[in-house]
Amino acid sequence: MLLAFTDQGTGPVVVLLHGFPLSRAMWAGQIREWSGSYRVIAPDLRGHGESPAPDAVYTMDLMADDVVELLDGLGLAEPVVVGGLSMGGYVALALALKHPNRVRGLMLVDTRAAADEPETARRREENAKAVLAAGHPGAMVETMLPRLFSRSTFRRRPGIVPPIQAVMAETTAAGVAGALRGMACRPDRREQLREIACPTLVAVGEEDVISPPDEAKAIAEALPDGRLAVIPLAGHLSPYENPEAFDAAALAFLRDLHPHA
Ligand code: MLT
Repeated sequence: MLLAFTDQGTGPVVVLLHGFPLSRAMWAGQIREWSGSYRVIAPDLRGHGESPAPDAVYTMDLMADDVVELLDGLGLAEPVVVGGLSMGGYVALALALKHPNRVRGLMLVDTRAAADEPETARRREENAKAVLAAGHPGAMVETMLPRLFSRSTFRRRPGIVPPIQAVMAETTAAGVAGALRGMACRPDRREQLREIACPTLVAVGEEDVISPPDEAKAIAEALPDGRLAVIPLAGHLSPYENPEAFDAAALAFLRDLHPHA
């Protein structure tokens, strides 16, 4: 699968994987700020943004393989830092477990290691069918939106909500259904966290209600080399809602990995 992607800057490679149903646009701030010291590669995962949206179940392994194919295509065989938010975090985790030799460091952001609860998986299938029937994700976007952002963001920075809403609304029905079905069948990875040898930053918005701080803390504790960063005034989209605090935590992590960058 040929993915659309942004490739900006020079230096150690950092790959950033967006959440659902978003696109690489959510990383615009990080791409701008980090590309002075790092080569930031941010793809649109299959079914999202400008990448193709085949009728299929997009398993996390499949999306991880797409990212490895992208790295191969760019001639990047050496291990890189991979960061992912929420669904992007599920993909990053799949990539680290399936292709450990490709990952130098991991950033798991506003994400989970557990599988879906049966009720969540059932709701995803309902949503997939409804979105396919409607031909667009409009209704699902309206339901999701209030849970994505923190109360603080709605109060302090309401202007940052509409651009994300627009990206979500533009995601195709096939892309939304493929990702929902892929997330619904993702395995419980909690026991496998101990296999992840690389340094890992686990970041979470302190007001994240989708992948709450308690779960992030448990992930960080289960990892052999995990560290936790709780991002204040942010919900499920912490890098976008509070880029100053997120970038400070992420850049400190990256500097420890690459002291000379
Ligand atoms: C995301 O932000 O990627 C989604 O909320 C993930 C999910 O639905 O599990």
